Amino acid sequence: MLAGKRVLLIIAGGIAAYKTLELIRLLKGQGAAVTPVMTKAASEFVTPLSVSALAGEKVYTDLFDLTEEAEMGHIQLSRSADLVVVAPATANIMAKMVGGQADDMATTLLMATDTPVMIAPAMNVRMWDHPATQRNVETLLEDRIRIVGPNVGDMACGEHGPGRMAEPAEILNAVRNALTSGPLTGKHILVTSGPTHEPIDPVRYIANRSSGAQGAALAKALMDLGADVTFVTGPASVAPPVGARIVPVETAAQMLVAVEEHLPADAAIFAAAVADWRVASASGKKIKKQDGALPTLEFAENPDILARVSQMAAGRPPLVVGFAAETHDVIENATAKRLRKRCDWIVANDVRPETGIMGGTENKVTLVTDAGSQDWPRMSKTEVSMKLASEIAKALG
Ligand code: CTP
Repeated sequence: MLAGKRVLLIIAGGIAAYKTLELIRLLKGQGAAVTPVMTKAASEFVTPLSVSALAGEKVYTDLFDLTEEAEMGHIQLSRSADLVVVAPATANIMAKMVGGQADDMATTLLMATDTPVMIAPAMNVRMWDHPATQRNVETLLEDRIRIVGPNVGDMACGEHGPGRMAEPAEILNAVRNALTSGPLTGKHILVTSGPTHEPIDPVRYIANRSSGAQGAALAKALMDLGADVTFVTGPASVAPPVGARIVPVETAAQMLVAVEEHLPADAAIFAAAVADWRVASASGKKIKKQDGALPTLEFAENPDILARVSQMAAGRPPLVVGFAAETHDVIENATAKRLRKRCDWIVANDVRPETGIMGGTENKVTLVTDAGSQDWPRMSKTEVSMKLASEIAKALG
């Protein structure tokens, strides 16, 4: 996806610099070339050797390296990239950017560049909340600097709040969105995926056979068309899609909260196999065997996330897509489900065990819309995803 693109990656001095090593790996994995630049403080956190080994290129550290100046001046270096990324961006480097300072290689490049710049701030929560930093954020946004993160979470300093650097996969996604454009560029799409686990007691749960493969493939196909994807996933057996904003959950109730928290979206695709029921009062302690007596589990109905979002009075995504796993009368059931839940489309699949679809690599789907139903031939889950992503692009176009 990023083949032929060059990222000038400036690493400033913060503990999050260790995550930048992973970012380099991800960028390289997508085919981008990475020119690393480190501030003096950055090399207190990660070594230039690790950075250059992962980037496969020399690390630039010193403005006054005369050989480099002769070979490639800093002006040229600052302009040879398609995007300049500062990760982590400390409060200090942000302040220097705002003030137009150029007292080392990194800040000189930032002043000299005519290339778009993206920063991934990382700092202590109080430093982030400080009026000076907040003023700087506003100025940087006015200067058309793109900002990814920071996230809310636990920090290396032991505090909790905003200030954690965005995850490498999120930065990668932001880089992809900045450098590539497709029919879904600028669109936020929420995807649910995987099974849910409904606890019986602290060690047992009710689950289903969904692997999360279809949802992950769909998220990737949407990102390939430029979408910014939030991926709310139950405990799946396949890896989550690199580059999406991953929101892990366990239960249906948690999935509903996560979905609501991540709206608004231009489209919401509900590929998760959500458990219809949970155990009404899951035990806080492990249920013990009792001579001959069998435990009785009482069930309660889970919220129907797809139906809730489809029927939102305000803020309903313009396109809501559900999946239907059916074992018989696929089209009739899917058509009725679309009307009952009030979603726009249903992607129906035949999950009779002999089809091998649930947990397998292929799928045979029927797309049910208000215009009727369309039978797609049996194909890989990746191909289904690409076809569905392009239908979604057409619908949102
Ligand atoms: N779904 C959901 N929340 C639930 C149950 C289902 O969001 N609590 C979504 C699934 O992600 C899927 C669609 O609804 O997109 C269809 O799910 P399915 O389980 O097939 O439908 P049900 O409503 O359970 O109908 P039935 O039991 O009749 O198959």
